[in-house]
Amino acid sequence: MSQTPSSSSVKGRINVILHNKPNKMEEETFFHSEEEREKHYVLEKMERELKKYVGLDEVKRLIKEVYAWIYINQCRTEQGLRASKQALHMIFKGNPGTGKTTVARLIARFFRDMNVLSKGQLIEAERADLVGEYIGHTAQKTRELIKKAQGGVLFVDEAYSLARGGEKDFGKEAIDTLVKAMEDQQHEFVLILAGYSDEMDYFLSLNPGLPSRFPIAMDFPNYTTDQLMQIVKNMVKEREYQLTKRAQHLIREHVTKVRQYEGRTFSNGRYIRNMIEEAIRRQAVRLLQEGSYSREALLLLKAEDFHFESSNVKP
Ligand SMILES: Nc1ncnc2c1ncn2[C@@H]1O[C@H](COP(=O)(O)OP(=O)(O)OP(=O)(O)O)[C@@H](O)[C@H]1O
Ligand SMILES: [Mg+2]
Repeated sequence: MSQTPSSSSVKGRINVILHNKPNKMEEETFFHSEEEREKHYVLEKMERELKKYVGLDEVKRLIKEVYAWIYINQCRTEQGLRASKQALHMIFKGNPGTGKTTVARLIARFFRDMNVLSKGQLIEAERADLVGEYIGHTAQKTRELIKKAQGGVLFVDEAYSLARGGEKDFGKEAIDTLVKAMEDQQHEFVLILAGYSDEMDYFLSLNPGLPSRFPIAMDFPNYTTDQLMQIVKNMVKEREYQLTKRAQHLIREHVTKVRQYEGRTFSNGRYIRNMIEEAIRRQAVRLLQEGSYSREALLLLKAEDFHFESSNVKP
């Protein structure tokens, strides 16, 4: 960790000052002095990143907790006090498109900035990347992935599928290999297992040795209609477009409906992204056809650019 009390570095300080927004109570009061704020610029930077994302309240709270925990452990070590064992492996529970991969990527960089990880890359994997076709193949494949993840985060999506086939399945070999590496190379990579909430709970219950190895579990709830609309607005703005009032109204109506209808397979933020990108393509076709290339025409996404009935985007 770079920011111990005795070794403060100036890296990133300018950012802290530039982006300082003292109008928010919470920001003003958490650290009691400017010096303290600057000392913890890594946390500030991460919180600023997270602020760009809608919701994710539990993630935001846990990040502060994890930072504080690592930092205080470091202080304790310096004072010759016992520090708690610091496994940083995590479980992410949530439906598709709720921000799990996005947060994993941010966390990888956050740990790099804290000097917990040396590189901070994110290696994403799923069952097929870990599990092989013959005896011994799985351990080899899994070890290769762990090697790639050295200094960073290994993110295993739909991790519960590793337990799919029971005792005889090679998935078990992948789990055993992962567990062994977590113990042997504890400080060289962080393992994040992700998947649907219920499946992950079931998966953990099948592997009694696992839960204690993952001290941090984060929940990624489905977004509410209001949050999804906020994501819509952010994404449209980011791409330098504007929505007409009628388009906004239509999207809200549609999102309210699909959210309920699609239930737990609804792909949340990913659906919004795909929906916006499809509308942008359709607007382009419309503009070509109309031959309208004015600045206003280029900016506006209209209701007719969102043909929900004939859309190729799966909610
Ligand atoms: N809170 C949010 N605010 C803004 N955009 C978001 C938010 N959550 C997710 N998104 C956007 O939704 C898309 C999908 O997010 P991400 O890939 O992180 O989801 P995921 O949980 O990993 O999904 P899956 O389980 O299907 O892999 C991304 O484009 C991301 O930027
Ligand atoms: Mg993902």
